[in-house]
Amino acid sequence: MYKILNKETLAPDEKMYVLDAPDIAGKTLPGQFIIIRIDENGERIPLTIADYDRKKGTITIIVQEVGKSTIQLGNMKKGDSIFDVAGPLGVPTHIEKYGTVICVGGGVGIACIYPIASAMKQAGNKVICILGARTRELIFWEDKIKAVSDEVYITTDDGSYGRKGFVSGRLKELIDEKEKIDRVMVIGPVIMMKVVSEVTRPYKIKTIVSLNSIMVDGTGMCGSCRVEIGDEIKFACVDGPDFDAHQVNYDLLMNRQKVYAREEKEACNKCKQEGNVNACK
Ligand SMILES: Cc1cc2nc3c(=O)[nH]c(=O)nc-3n(C[C@H](O)[C@H](O)[C@H](O)COP(=O)(O)OP(=O)(O)OC[C@H]3O[C@@H](n4cnc5c(N)ncnc54)[C@H](O)[C@@H]3O)c2cc1C
Ligand code: FES
Repeated sequence: MYKILNKETLAPDEKMYVLDAPDIAGKTLPGQFIIIRIDENGERIPLTIADYDRKKGTITIIVQEVGKSTIQLGNMKKGDSIFDVAGPLGVPTHIEKYGTVICVGGGVGIACIYPIASAMKQAGNKVICILGARTRELIFWEDKIKAVSDEVYITTDDGSYGRKGFVSGRLKELIDEKEKIDRVMVIGPVIMMKVVSEVTRPYKIKTIVSLNSIMVDGTGMCGSCRVEIGDEIKFACVDGPDFDAHQVNYDLLMNRQKVYAREEKEACNKCKQEGNVNACK
């Protein structure tokens, strides 16, 4: 059992949980994730470790409520316990001194990019972050990210905060303005990662994306997370989640993410019938 030590609402439908998990906090590196089961019958949901504190033995996750399990998690309170947490999983992000690194986080990906930006800064890189969301209230952790970055730029789709537009537009401007960008790290919705990778491709800037394919076991056994990278099939849970952005077959990934759409809708409907008013708004 993993106790929720703290819970905060960061944005509508986006909540932060600090979990008592000394066994995981002691081993976590940037870019890794956990798979949780809320209760004995819960489905397994992968979540990035957005922060960790080895001394306190805690890990922090930020969860966007999109379906049955994440909404169920959203109903849990400080002091409640999560039945099962497996991790840290996945290959940690490769961190070294590259020079100037741009870290791009979109939506809940803002949380996932934080430990990477922090580690890139500690490795001696100049770190520039671009954070994007649909609207102002969905931007969070701005100060925390500023504390580990040399420059931070915000974009919102509706222009309610920062620059109006997408992260990809700001990224292109920065690449054109700056002398040399050595690496771009991107985490967010698949469509955003696809668009950003097309921005950096003509400039031949090495770009790394963190893929959120559907995962079940997280150990390379079930095959549900398979992705096409160049002409190879890889399992995002054990070979990734980080991959070369210019090699990813994004269209296949987007199609595979919809594979269980009918079952996910049924699970939400069942939840509603059981009286959960929040289910799949
Ligand atoms: C490595 C990795 C890290 C992730 N990190 C985060 C994070 O830090 N914060 C966050 O909010 N979300 C994260 N996700 C996505 C999160 O796992 C899904 O949103 C969650 O599983 C949805 O479950 P649900 O029952 O609430 O929704 P459902 O209604 O079951 O699904 C909604 C959508 O979520 C995706 N999804 C569903 N089940 C899975 C699954 N088992 N694995 C992956 N995606 C699934 C599908 O695209 C689906 O259409 C991550 C996914 C991966 C693979
Ligand atoms: S989640 Fe089963 S092989 Fe990756």
